[in-house]
Parts: sequence; structure tokens; C-alpha cells
Amino acid sequence: MAYVEKINISNFKSHFSFQSEILSSSVVVCGNNGIGKTNLLESLSFFSNSKGMRGDKLDNFFYHKGDIKTKYLNVESWLKQKDYSTNISYELICEENSINKNFFIDKKKISNQDICELVNFIWLSPHMDRIMYEGNTIKKNFIDKIISNLDKDFKKSISNFKKLSEERIALLINNGDSKWLSIIEQKMAIVFFNILKKRRENIFLLNEISEKLLNSFKKFKIDIINNLEETLKSRDACLEKMIAIMHNNRTLDQSIKRNSFSPSIDQVSFYDCDKQLNSDMCSTGEQKSILLSVILAFAWMYKNKDVPFILLFDEISSHIDEHNIEKFFDEVVKFETQAWYTGTNKNIFQAIENKAFFIDLA
Ligand SMILES: Nc1ncnc2c1ncn2[C@@H]1O[C@H](COP(=O)(O)OP(=O)(O)OP(=O)(O)O)[C@@H](O)[C@H]1O
Ligand SMILES: [Mg+2]
Repeated sequence: MAYVEKINISNFKSHFSFQSEILSSSVVVCGNNGIGKTNLLESLSFFSNSKGMRGDKLDNFFYHKGDIKTKYLNVESWLKQKDYSTNISYELICEENSINKNFFIDKKKISNQDICELVNFIWLSPHMDRIMYEGNTIKKNFIDKIISNLDKDFKKSISNFKKLSEERIALLINNGDSKWLSIIEQKMAIVFFNILKKRRENIFLLNEISEKLLNSFKKFKIDIINNLEETLKSRDACLEKMIAIMHNNRTLDQSIKRNSFSPSIDQVSFYDCDKQLNSDMCSTGEQKSILLSVILAFAWMYKNKDVPFILLFDEISSHIDEHNIEKFFDEVVKFETQAWYTGTNKNIFQAIENKAFFIDLA
């Protein structure tokens, strides 16, 4: 579906200058700790998220050595899709008080949203491991990110709810007009309801993909629940209940200066279907496998919608045994798109050794 066939990097983190032609749809970046493997994947992830896969501060992206810090970085990649090739690139310029980001397609300045129309980078990095064992907020945010990536309306709903919440709190604090407050609460209820619905629809799809398409690798199930679950079946009844709760909470919310009733009421849990256990209770390797499976299911959602994507797997082999990693590679091949892997040890990639393109960083 989509392949990076060449990459040129200047001044991106530890990569002062790096060029490579990429000769396969499986790319393995190897090398010792600290050599720049993750940075290489991060430079690609920046095309899909302007903070990159580690959500770093923009200032940290410029190559620096000792006291010398560069003020300009550039990443350029040639993207092959079907029978045409496109040049996609971005530059970061450090000005006196700001950092400017510019994205280009075939040297023409565009927004990074335009790049998403062409290709999306989907990644998994070690810092995401905690999703499987930490609390509800991180799990829910992860699900929201997955949905937002494919559904821009959902993303808008999340930010709309935040704006309306701020407006409601400002009105409460300033003892604003109660009629206006009711209008805001009605609007909030509609957005709130849509968010809860969309989460359920997408979790249903992810579960369905796990059941039907992830035949070699671990099957998972995601559960989502809150104490309005029954009411969700009827939109009008649910909106009425939501509005009533917000109305009742006015005094409380005024004193705590935040909305105590919000879409974070949803509780998200991940389950290992073989073990029939909540991910919180699974072993480290099992947790990692569930996470890998969720990313595979997410990639299937892209594939099913015909949205081009490239996969970036940073250190996936940590905690996964040889047998499972082979099964994982089998699943990835089905996407017929490019997948990048990093690792300190080449042996892990024996199963794809013959077809993978190895980048040895030294
Ligand atoms: N802005 C920067 N300029 C120069 N070097 C940087 C910059 N930011 C980070 N680095 C360095 O880049 C190096 C490589 O980091 P990276 O995370 O890519 O390593 P890695 O090969 O993935 O290592 P590991 O195997 O430990 O995951 C680190 O030593 C880090 O200190
Ligand atoms: Mg790394």
C-alpha cells in the first residue's frame, strides 16, 4: 500500500546527517543502545503527529552536540504508492521566540493534514506498554486516540466538549445567566452522548477484528462501561438524564471549578481472550501481546477503510518470545504495507531475515 523508498535526515535529534534507500517492505533498524534507532522511527512518525511518537517538545528535536545546537532540521522521504512516487518532507526552524513547522508534498508547502491523506504512520513504542497495566485514564485516552485518528468528527467532539466545559465553569464561577447555562448543558449532553456512542461503536469494531482477523496472534477483548449504560440505549432518555445530572452538580462544580460529570465516566478494560483475564492481571509478555494485537486491529481499521499506512514498531521484541514474534510477523505481512522494526539484536528477526532490509546504525 505505501512504502518509504528513500529517506534523508538532517539535524533530527542524534541524526546529524542520515541517508538510506529502503529496499523492502520490512525494515529492521539495528544497533546498540543510544545509537539512534528510535530517533529514526520518530523522524517518520512526525509526518503523522507534529510532536512525534514520544510527544517530545519541539525544541528537543534539533541536533545538538556540546554547546552547539542546530536551528534547522529537515526530514525528506520518498513515498512509493502503487506506481507513483511522492516526495514528502518537513522542516523545523528555530526562530527567536518560536519554532516553525513546515510540511511539503513534492516541495509544495501544505498542511500535515494533507500528508495524512497520503499516508499515516502508526506506531508502537515501549512507553506505551503501561497502557495495559496503568489506570483507566490512560486506557481511555489510548482508545480516544485510536478513534480520533480515523474519525475527525470524534476528535472535534472531544475538543468541543472541553470548550463547552470551560464555558460552563466560567459561567458557574461568575454566577452567569442560568438560561445560558442550561443551553450550554444541553449542548454538552449531545456531544457527551456522541462521544460515548462512538467509543462503543469503535470498540465493537476492534473486538470484531480481533475475533475474525487476528488468527495467528493473541486475541483480545475490550470492555467499556459506565453507570449510564442502560440509558444509552435511548438517546432522548440519556440526554435528559445527562442534563439533569449536570443541573444537580452545579453547586459542586462551581466549588471544585471543574465538571465532575464528563466522558471520563467510561471505564475501559482490556482482556486476554485465551487466559480470560483482565490485562492488569496478565504477565508482562501477555500484556505486550495484547497491546500488539490492539495495534494490529487498529491497522486493520485503516486497511478496511482503504487508508494508506506504514507501521513503526519500536522494540516490540522486548518481552515477546520467539514463537510469538514469528506469529506477529505473519499477521503484519497481511497488511501488504511497509513495517519498520527496531532491535538491539538481529537474531530476533530471523523469521523475516530473507526479505527484510537491515539498517545497521553504528
Ligand atoms: N536533540 C538531540 N541531539 C543529539 N542527540 C540527541 C538529541 N536528542 C536525543 N539525542 C540522543 O540520541 C541518542 C539515541 O536515542 P534513541 O532513543 O534513538 O536510541 P536507541 O538506539 O533507540 O536506543 P535504545 O536501544 O536504548 O532504545 C541518545 O543517546 C540521546 O541522548
Ligand atoms: Mg530505542
